[in-house]
Amino acid sequence: MHVQDWTPQSWRSRPIQQAPTYPDAARLAAAEARLHGYPPLVFAGEARRLKSSLAMAAEGRAFVLQGGDCAESFADFNANSVRDTFRVLLQMAVVLTFGATVPVIKIGRMAGQFAKPRSSDTETVAGVVLPSYRGDIINGPEPTAAARTPDPARMETAYFQSAGRMNLLRAFAGGGYADLHQVHRWNLDFVARSPLAARYQDLAARIDETLGFMAACGIGSGNTAQIRETEFYTGHEALLLPYEQALTRVDSTSGDWYGCSANFLWVGDRTRQVDGAHVEFLRGLRNPIGIKLGPTTPADDVLRLIDILHPDDEPGRLTLISRMGADRVRTHLTPLLRAVRRHGRRVVWLCDPMHGNTVSTAHNVKTRNFDSILSEMRGFFDVFAEEGARPGGVHVEMTGQPVTECVGGAHRLTEADLAQRYETFCDPRLNAEQSLELAFLVAAELKTRRLAASSPAIAAQ
Ligand code: PEP
Ligand code: CO
Repeated sequence: MHVQDWTPQSWRSRPIQQAPTYPDAARLAAAEARLHGYPPLVFAGEARRLKSSLAMAAEGRAFVLQGGDCAESFADFNANSVRDTFRVLLQMAVVLTFGATVPVIKIGRMAGQFAKPRSSDTETVAGVVLPSYRGDIINGPEPTAAARTPDPARMETAYFQSAGRMNLLRAFAGGGYADLHQVHRWNLDFVARSPLAARYQDLAARIDETLGFMAACGIGSGNTAQIRETEFYTGHEALLLPYEQALTRVDSTSGDWYGCSANFLWVGDRTRQVDGAHVEFLRGLRNPIGIKLGPTTPADDVLRLIDILHPDDEPGRLTLISRMGADRVRTHLTPLLRAVRRHGRRVVWLCDPMHGNTVSTAHNVKTRNFDSILSEMRGFFDVFAEEGARPGGVHVEMTGQPVTECVGGAHRLTEADLAQRYETFCDPRLNAEQSLELAFLVAAELKTRRLAASSPAIAAQ
C-alpha cells in the first residue's frame, strides 16, 4: 500500500521534540549507514501476525499485556535479567487469561527500549549543569560531561544488544521454557509465599483444576503447541528517529515499509504532536503502532492523530495507551473514549497505570504507589463499563528482579525500603512480586465484572 508523500526520512522536515544533538554529524551519518545495512531485527510477517491478534483485542476477543523496563540498560545485558522479566510476564499472562477468559497477547517492553524522553534538557549535579541522560542508546547515565554527550556508536550497541535479547526471548518462547504447566507452578510458589496467599488461593486453585481437567482430556505439552510454547512480541517507544529510520525495510512480500527494530512501536505522550516528526515517521510504517495519551491530550488531537495514523481503519493497526493518573482517569479518559467511539474507528485501548502516578518522596526519589496503580486500573475499567466499551489490556513498567522502587503491595514496601534495591535508570518499576499481585488483582476484577455483566444475580452473591 502506498502512503502518500511519505518516505523513511520525511520526518526530517517536521518539527521534532526530544531529539539529541550529536556533536559530530559525519559520525552519526556513518553509524546510520552501517545500521541500514544490518539485518532487520524482526520480520514483517511477525508484525502482521501481531496486528491480527490486536484486531481481536479491539473487539474484546483478546487482552493485551505489555510490560518491561522503563529504560533497558547496556550494563544489565545478561541472560538472567531477560529471563526473569520474560518469566514474570508469562506468569502474569496466565493469571490474566483466566480473569479475562480470552487469549492474552504478550508484548515485552524489551529488546529495544533504550531511548527516553526527558522533562528537561539539562540537570544539575553537584552544582554542574549537564545534559540530561536520554537512555543508553543516546548517552550514558554517569554524571560527567563526557558520558552525557550523545554518541552515535551507542545506536549500534543498542542494535546488537537488542539482537541478543531478542534471540533469547525467541528461544525461551519456543524452546520449552514457556510451558504452561511450568508457569503455573511458578505462580503456585508465588501464592504460597505471598502475605495475601488466601486472597490469591482461589484463583490459583481454579487454574490448577482447569489444567488438570485439560490434561485428563489429553490436552498437554506433548500434543499441544499452545501449552508448550507461547507467542511473545517486542515493542518500544520509537523516540530516536535516526535509529528507527535506519531499521526500516521494505517487506518483499507486500512492498510495504516496516519498522524492523521491533514488532510494535509507539509514540510517547511528549512526542505525539499532530504535525511533529514522530507522528510523521510512524504514519508510513505498516506495523501495529501505539500512541500514549496523557491528561493534557485534547480529544480533537486524538481524532486528528487517528485520521493521520489510522486512515483505513485497518484492524489492529492502532492502540491508544491511556496514562492519566488515578485521580484523573475517570474525568479525562471518558471524553476521549466517547470522541473516538463517535468517530467510528476501531482501536485497542490499553491502560498504562504507571506514568500518571509518579511521585517524589521527601528525599526526592521517584516512586509510585501500588494502590494508585491499582486504582487507575479500576478507574479505567469503570470508564469502559460505563460507556459499554471493551478495554483492550494493560501496559506496565516492571522487572523480574526483586527491586524496591514502587511503594506498597502485599509486602508493604515503604519509602524507607526504597534505598535497598533502587536500580532503575529512569522510572520506578513494579518488582516481580508486585507485578504478579497486580495481575491477580486485575484478573479478579475482570472476572467479577464479567460475571456482573452476564448475570447481576451471581455478582451480587
Ligand atoms: C514511557 O513509557 O516510559 C514514557 C516515557 O511514557 P509517556 O510517553 O507516557 O510519558
Ligand atoms: Co517510563
